[in-house]
Amino acid sequence: MPRIAYVNGRYLPAHDALVSIEDRGYQFSDGIYEVCEVRGGAIIDERRHLERLRRSLDALRIRLPVAPSALSVILRETIHRNRVRDGIVYVQMTRGVARRDFAFPPPGTAPSLVVTARSLDLAGNEKKAQQGITVVTVPESRWARPDIKSVSLLPNVLATQAARDRGAAEAWFVDRDGRVTEGASSNAWIVTPDRRVVTRPADNGILRGITRTVLIGVVKARNLLFEERPFTVEEAYGAGEAFVTAASQIVMPVVRIDDRPIGDGSPGPVAKALRESFHRHAEWS
Ligand code: PDD
Repeated sequence: MPRIAYVNGRYLPAHDALVSIEDRGYQFSDGIYEVCEVRGGAIIDERRHLERLRRSLDALRIRLPVAPSALSVILRETIHRNRVRDGIVYVQMTRGVARRDFAFPPPGTAPSLVVTARSLDLAGNEKKAQQGITVVTVPESRWARPDIKSVSLLPNVLATQAARDRGAAEAWFVDRDGRVTEGASSNAWIVTPDRRVVTRPADNGILRGITRTVLIGVVKARNLLFEERPFTVEEAYGAGEAFVTAASQIVMPVVRIDDRPIGDGSPGPVAKALRESFHRHAEWS
């Protein structure tokens, strides 16, 4: 079965799903994206993801190229045509196609819209969560607005590759004060030795993850102590547990940071419990 992508009004086999070399996403990374989890054929937290998509578009002054209701239909149709039950749906919007010029193109230029969907290996992910992943730290090297979910991801690409080169799954960015900002494609969390769950405030310096937002509700519902504050790499090394959150991974325990075992070096009970309860708190649609 060929993979099908939605591209500017048409559903096409992946090899015919092409965008122009003058698309501003290709030329300037002038665009934004969203990734939603698909589980049992349902979209998880769609409303929150589409709200964030609107905020990213507004920040870049790109208009939504279709009605919100039409976008929901396109997401479902793309999921359906790719027969995805458990996986992700990806949406990308750019400022459209125009002759290369740094300033915005003429007002009538239509933004580009691409949607793809693919299956994820649920059992494989579950196995990964039982083992936990390793993380390395890298200096924060991004622009000042990581809160915009833009497709300008070069520092994230380089950080992820640095992690892979060192045998790790994820990289954590660390600012000049030695504080962890977030992962290359996830939010970063620790659990202190006295079981307080800590994650950095979602200011302009990180992406306000949807998984993060929902999980804060789970933490509170389970009466765990929660602190939204910066934490340093040193504090993370000495944490009882660590984990990352993202739509594609939900809660993924971290068992080593820079070759130092976290806690007893295996996934901790808080991360495991949060992972198990997440989907009862998320919105299914
Ligand atoms: N990444 N921080 C960064 C830099 C991210 O790229 C992501 C998600 C997150 C977590 O956000 P959410 O919980 O809304 O998925 C945090 C997606 C999954 C990606 O780029 O593939």
